[in-house]
Amino acid sequence: MTHITIKRPDDWHVHLRDGDMLKAVLPHTAKDFGRAIIMPNLVPPVTTSAMAQAYRDRILSALPDGADFNPLMVLYLTEDTDPADVRAGFESGLVTAVKLYPAGATTNSASGVRNMDKVMPVLEVMAEIGMPLCVHGEVTDSDIDIFDREAVFIDRVLDPLGRRLPELRVVAEHITTKQAVDYIAQASRALAATITTHHLMINRNAMLAGGIKPHYYCLPVAKREMHRKALVAAAISGDPRFFLGTDSAPHTDPNKLQECGCAGIFTAPNTMACLAQIFEDEDALDKLEGFTSLHGPAFYRLPVNDAEMVLSRSDSPVTFPDRIETGEGPVTIFDPMRPIYWQVSS
Ligand code: NCD
Ligand code: ZN
Repeated sequence: MTHITIKRPDDWHVHLRDGDMLKAVLPHTAKDFGRAIIMPNLVPPVTTSAMAQAYRDRILSALPDGADFNPLMVLYLTEDTDPADVRAGFESGLVTAVKLYPAGATTNSASGVRNMDKVMPVLEVMAEIGMPLCVHGEVTDSDIDIFDREAVFIDRVLDPLGRRLPELRVVAEHITTKQAVDYIAQASRALAATITTHHLMINRNAMLAGGIKPHYYCLPVAKREMHRKALVAAAISGDPRFFLGTDSAPHTDPNKLQECGCAGIFTAPNTMACLAQIFEDEDALDKLEGFTSLHGPAFYRLPVNDAEMVLSRSDSPVTFPDRIETGEGPVTIFDPMRPIYWQVSS
């Protein structure tokens, strides 16, 4: 097979940042994706509908001319979030979802949630109006091993939340473990999960074997190979509860390559090429469109994009640039560490 045509994909979890970084990274997402769920972990975080409106305006004005891209805005949940503002933002069509960061779990999450009881009034309104909650599913307790934080989160937070508020629509974001795949696959409530491109391609050896490789460090951290295999199986299964959220998260090289480097992998430029390669290797190219373009809109109750994307396969590997330049410094592009024969042709 040399070409495939799919409906234009969407990215259900991306970091576009702000200012000069936004200007440099946005064209890469807007080129391949019709819509994206825009993470609100700016400094300061996007906590109100007014802030979401202002951020959306900045994104729209940074778009290249003629771009076909709709940023779907997300509010950053804090213990002070006003349920009335969430309701108004959703009902006006401005805000698509709310994001739960456990305080301290990842980049810019200091204002996140410590005590779930404090956010129940917001979650109850969201359950009533059918508004999705996007969840960074890791506990932050220092006594929990970083490789276990997702599995422990399922037991301690995600499962109890489902019992307490079964109607709440939840997306477990960037899942990285077999435990998460199994939990979601058996769930009877409105629970879905996003999977990143990099977690389908690398295990923790990429980051730790043969020298420490900061460009493969992200949160949640990549796990063992058996977990990667479970994620691939979920992505190619055709189960509509699993869909793409790249978690493309740019940081400049100086911010990654230091004693305490930032978490995040920048995959926006080559995500679709990498995904076509993974799905081809699994003999599952027919499942790519569901994962990238159909399952996400179904969960978010939005129409599938009208436009199409053509991916083509070459006989020899395609090369991608190592990095992009931004007004804040260079940002390294994800290196899948294997030949990729696919590229987006239109
Ligand atoms: C993200 C970032 O840099 O904002 N980093 C990451 O490793 N994925 C935050 C996040 O989504 O956890
Ligand atoms: Zn993220």
